[in-house]
Amino acid sequence: MVKKAELHVHLEGTAPPALVRKMAARNGAKLDPTTFKSVGEFAWSNFWEFLDCYDKAAATILTKDDYRLITYDYLARCAKENTIYVEMFSSPDHAAEVGMSYTDHLEGIAAGIDDARLEFGIEGRIIVTCVRHLGAERALAIARLVALTPHPYVVGFGMGGDESRFHPDDFAAAFNLVTKAGYQTTSHAGEFSGPESIRASLAALPISRVGHGVRAIEDPELLEELAYRRIPLELCPGSNIATGLYKSWGKHPFRKFMDTGCLVTLNSDDPPYFGTSIGHEYEQAAKIFGLSKADLKNITRNAISAAFCGEELKEKLLSRL
Ligand code: HPA
Ligand code: ZN
Repeated sequence: MVKKAELHVHLEGTAPPALVRKMAARNGAKLDPTTFKSVGEFAWSNFWEFLDCYDKAAATILTKDDYRLITYDYLARCAKENTIYVEMFSSPDHAAEVGMSYTDHLEGIAAGIDDARLEFGIEGRIIVTCVRHLGAERALAIARLVALTPHPYVVGFGMGGDESRFHPDDFAAAFNLVTKAGYQTTSHAGEFSGPESIRASLAALPISRVGHGVRAIEDPELLEELAYRRIPLELCPGSNIATGLYKSWGKHPFRKFMDTGCLVTLNSDDPPYFGTSIGHEYEQAAKIFGLSKADLKNITRNAISAAFCGEELKEKLLSRL
């Protein structure tokens, strides 16, 4: 099995329904019954419903040990698919929503990373993210936490949420602050908004990767620019298909990005919501886009090269390929 690395996955979005129920039960937390469509499926039918469902499930993550558990559980599943590195988005806004402090939430995640490393040899790091639709002030507050409260596993800053809300310019202060503090950054762009959203993000923010960026396919000049500048793209085909951006794997433009010379990576985004996993993304990409073992290995190499962790860890991971 090819070794894998993942750069784009939302930690709160990795907990499957059974784990969400388990956390709710052990915490005596109220679990909104509309969270699930069936025993094993989250209930949502478009992107905005997905974000809402994600929030309801995340509201069951109440303690430091819950964060440890979801992190460990996710990394264990990744390790079984021969994944050697995962860079995961964590959202202090979701932790704050249930009354958890920034440091408790980070310490929980760090304990999960340590436990998984000990048992499976998998390595993990954290990208702290702000939520775009919560606005610029919240984003700046999160950026300040990142800059002023360093943690050895926090390697970057990111932004998810509803891309149709606000303008990248509104978040320049937050991104500039963490960049000055020495962190690399990434932002979701060109997922639900078009190529202009990617252009605006690249112009306004000091990002070194693009989250999704898939809709650059609609703008040949931008596609060429992304390839020329070797800007890493965190592509998530299974997510794009689940949210209805493309009708099927056969219609996804992944192969075109690769053939244009873009630096592509494969990612699962919110795996149990989108019926996928990092292993499934690699498997489907091989089958549908006709990728060889060497192509897949190169995708892993791309991910490690584009990772935000330090050079020493990158060298170690690359040597494992
Ligand atoms: N896209 C944007 N924001 C998100 C996502 C996503 O897939 N998951 C959690 N927040
Ligand atoms: Zn995402």
